[in-house]
Amino acid sequence: MLWRHATLATLADGGWGLIEDGALLTRGATVLWAGSDAELPAGCDAAKEHDLGGALVTPGLVDCHTHLVYGGDRAAEFEQRLQGASYEEIARAGGGILSTVHATRAASEDALFEAALARARCLLREGVTTLEIKSGYGLTLAAEARCLRVARRIGESLPISVRTTYLGAHALPPEYTGRADEYIGAVCDWMHRLRDEGLIDAVDAFCESIAFTPAQTRRVFDAAQVSGLPVKLHAEQLSDQGGAALAAAYGALSCDHLEYLGADGIEAMRAAGTVAVLLPGAYYFLRETRRPPVEALRAAGIPIAVATDHNPGSSPALSLRLMAHMACTLLGLNPLEAVRGITVNAARALGLSDRGTLTRGQRADFVVWKLGHPRELVYWFGDHATQHVVSAGQELA
Ligand code: NIG
Ligand code: FE
Repeated sequence: MLWRHATLATLADGGWGLIEDGALLTRGATVLWAGSDAELPAGCDAAKEHDLGGALVTPGLVDCHTHLVYGGDRAAEFEQRLQGASYEEIARAGGGILSTVHATRAASEDALFEAALARARCLLREGVTTLEIKSGYGLTLAAEARCLRVARRIGESLPISVRTTYLGAHALPPEYTGRADEYIGAVCDWMHRLRDEGLIDAVDAFCESIAFTPAQTRRVFDAAQVSGLPVKLHAEQLSDQGGAALAAAYGALSCDHLEYLGADGIEAMRAAGTVAVLLPGAYYFLRETRRPPVEALRAAGIPIAVATDHNPGSSPALSLRLMAHMACTLLGLNPLEAVRGITVNAARALGLSDRGTLTRGQRADFVVWKLGHPRELVYWFGDHATQHVVSAGQELA
């Protein structure tokens, strides 16, 4: 397919990579050529040609941190928090993540699938062509497997690539009360089995005072290493546990949240090439006041990504563009950083180097927008500005 007379934001070479009157040639699932329309190689005859009349084209968006598969909702908890209860208090009283665990265990695989599919459709409609989905609301082998199978089915049912992350170490399930170390042993056993079933692309944990200790997190990461799986971490969300430095020591793809990240964590992430994933939806919804150290991350040259963290408890958000907007207004990113954060750097947070820019050889994942300049992606909010969404060369009907 040949897409002509586009304003390309290739995001190549660290900037916008703007090409006015650009052209994009794809074959199958791959970009064959991207550049100025005037330099289009002679004799390239495409089966189908689109004249975009100057419309903006960017790489497909990448949502690199979601908990999309779960039962129920936590709207009542939202009301409790508005009346003064804290996220930690609700979690310690057995609500929070565990209330979603109950609802998820009670739901059928089909019900989980239908609910998650509707959410994935919202993201896709907005231009998301790659989506990470974590488990972590099942917390038994069977229920974690069910959630990961649902995640895989989403990727088979929609033109969106799904990367699955195993988050067995999300919360301590009630049947293991007082036996957290034993539970971590189970999490590690299940990991090997789920990996053998092809259900896991990466491993995550929640290292926090209301979840698991650094020592327990280390055991999960050791098991991941044995399984040959890359790791990432919910780190320094509510307090500084030294999680980021621990994850970086395992070559983590990303550390996510990071409101309480300190200088040691930043240095370790820099040295390991770990991506910092900012989650402004959770920052906002939990009414956190401590911001992640954006200036220090920037000064250290750490790649910054932005994701929805979609989940029922701390970020019931289904707009990645709104998150990128909030990464600017609430956390201090500039529009270029925010757009790179939901494309090229988000791909990197998933260990994917075949997408995130519009350059030769990349996957043909891109979006044609009813917008002029790419900074408008993070300026407008609440609109549906997509004109075409193309995933692996296939145009979304
Ligand atoms: O990323 N921090 C841990 N996990 C989720 C929240 C999960 C929940 O509250 O259900 C998060 O914010
Ligand atoms: Fe999360």
